[in-house]
Amino acid sequence: MPKKTYFQIAHLTDLHLTKKDSMARSEPKLFGKLKGMNKSFRAIMASPKILKSDWLAFTGDITDNGDLDTWKMFWDVISKANFSDKCSVIPGNHDVCNLGFFPASHENDTNERIERVRKGLKMGKQEVRFPWVKQIHEAVALIGIDSCNHGNFTGVTNAVGKIGFHQLEKLARDLKKIRHIPVKILMLHHSPNIPETWTEEARGLKPTSKAGRWGHEVPEEDRRALRLLCITNDVRLILHGHLHRQEDRRVNGVRIIGGAATTAPSDPDEKTGFPVTFYKVYTESEKKIIRQEQVLI
Ligand SMILES: [Fe+2]
Repeated sequence: MPKKTYFQIAHLTDLHLTKKDSMARSEPKLFGKLKGMNKSFRAIMASPKILKSDWLAFTGDITDNGDLDTWKMFWDVISKANFSDKCSVIPGNHDVCNLGFFPASHENDTNERIERVRKGLKMGKQEVRFPWVKQIHEAVALIGIDSCNHGNFTGVTNAVGKIGFHQLEKLARDLKKIRHIPVKILMLHHSPNIPETWTEEARGLKPTSKAGRWGHEVPEEDRRALRLLCITNDVRLILHGHLHRQEDRRVNGVRIIGGAATTAPSDPDEKTGFPVTFYKVYTESEKKIIRQEQVLI
């Protein structure tokens, strides 16, 4: 058998798992009342392509409603597939926020929600302080950012992203420390760049409405600071989820790839084909190359 010459990372996102297998997604507009996310996730985690991966990167919305029973189910599936020590998970707005129409009634509610997502992450021995850096291979480091806006807790504002000065300042220091690692991949839940309408149209994407943009976009100062840090510290790739659509673009020289919701079949009628993006890191003449392929599994 030929020797494997690459390190493979699979990017999965927006699973929206639920406490019971029969439960539907909380947001009726996205993919209709999609059901069966848990079953789809189990099937995805049993696929040979996933099992051959060296690392799994999950960019948030693991759960649809943030409850700990769902987190436990997620970690059980991860453990059964032998990925407990080979995966990185960051939170999405569904893992953290209140999805009701009213804001959290008092500060304790807010703290409870933040504590709950920390518990969910800790079940899988994940980092709960952000940003974090994890070297997963001699040539590869993952960097995790929490873009969930802990200040926005209403049904209207919970999807808005935010990174904030303190995370960006620590990120700057962390990136300096890992300058020697050739491949640096940053993960966050929200898109650090929703394309302008004309660009979306040119790419064949459905244009984001003004309200949609306002409700999902990371503030401009955060987006710009993040991209500048990535340029100056040679971050090769930014992975994100949240918008539930596959996107691949280069902004200011940084490649940004957004994943479609992995548990939503690409053809809802056929109910087949779950979108996963795989990254293979190769060494070629002393240079580290990342090759990317999007596969339906
Ligand atoms: Fe999502």
